[in-house]
Amino acid sequence: MTADPDLLLQVDGLRKTYPGDGAPVVAVDDLSFSLRPGGALGIVGESGSGKTTTARMLVGLERPDQGQILVQGTPLVARARGRVARLARAKAVQIVFQDPYLSLDARRTIGATLDGVLRLHGSASPARTRELLAQVGLGDREAAALPRELSGGQRQRAAIARALAVEPAVLVLDEAVSALDVSVQAQVLNLLSDIRRDTGIGLVFVSHDLAVVRYVCDEALVMYRGRTVEHRPVADLLATPRHPYTRLLLASVPHPGWNPEAIGLQRRELAALQAPLLLPVDAGGGR
Ligand SMILES: Nc1ncnc2c1ncn2[C@@H]1O[C@H](COP(=O)(O)OP(=O)(O)OP(=O)(O)O)[C@@H](O)[C@H]1O
Ligand SMILES: [Mg+2]
Repeated sequence: MTADPDLLLQVDGLRKTYPGDGAPVVAVDDLSFSLRPGGALGIVGESGSGKTTTARMLVGLERPDQGQILVQGTPLVARARGRVARLARAKAVQIVFQDPYLSLDARRTIGATLDGVLRLHGSASPARTRELLAQVGLGDREAAALPRELSGGQRQRAAIARALAVEPAVLVLDEAVSALDVSVQAQVLNLLSDIRRDTGIGLVFVSHDLAVVRYVCDEALVMYRGRTVEHRPVADLLATPRHPYTRLLLASVPHPGWNPEAIGLQRRELAALQAPLLLPVDAGGGR
């Protein structure tokens, strides 16, 4: 892979295994993709397909066994040592998890948390704090609140604002809207699209839900048991899914005219293709 400083993210041949009882579990295998400025990649797949492991490697929380991650042409430092290196690492990639409490301090107001992050990165000012809050649709009331005093949607917006305060090149979201109800989900998705358009930040949007991915992303990468089975523009992937597993994922999303029987058909098709890999097809979904 040639380092290209014009690309926000270059991922090449990532592999991660975990020790299992007996054979090691291959969580991610030979994963490669790149992200241009303002680009948004959706990573989709069922539970256990390796999405979170990928997200954690992208922010340096997990070290790949093999492969390389470049941010704007520079290798991502997994264990940054020293203040300068840590701040640089933080500016490369930020992550928002499904649980916003993981990135917010329970004892500090949202405003104080944002101020703290801004101060760390040398860009603190009341105007900047207000600007960040406005960017995620929050105001003075939410700034003065503790995380537990906010709604789930407001809390997730606050977690996104906290990540944006660092002005990262890339924002990784791991199931960041999955716990929100549908209308709040739509608001946060719109917000992400706006932020992406206005700032040129790159998004890696991890979700088990293709329907959600298509609102935010222009490309989707489908993972199945750690491997990439399809990686194409979202619109193409939805219109003409090539891999049986992608068809199964699509069949699983309820939509007008949805026929749950299609899921059984797709499962059988996938099973026929990859028989040695799969549990019995009729084991009630298997998971
Ligand atoms: N710390 C760990 N130790 C051992 N195995 C792990 C660890 N983290 C993940 N795994 C295994 O790696 C595989 C991929 O897990 P991962 O969390 O990446 O899946 P996922 O796609 O995010 O699933 P979900 O949709 O349920 O969040 C699974 O088989 C999981 O059991
Ligand atoms: Mg996960």
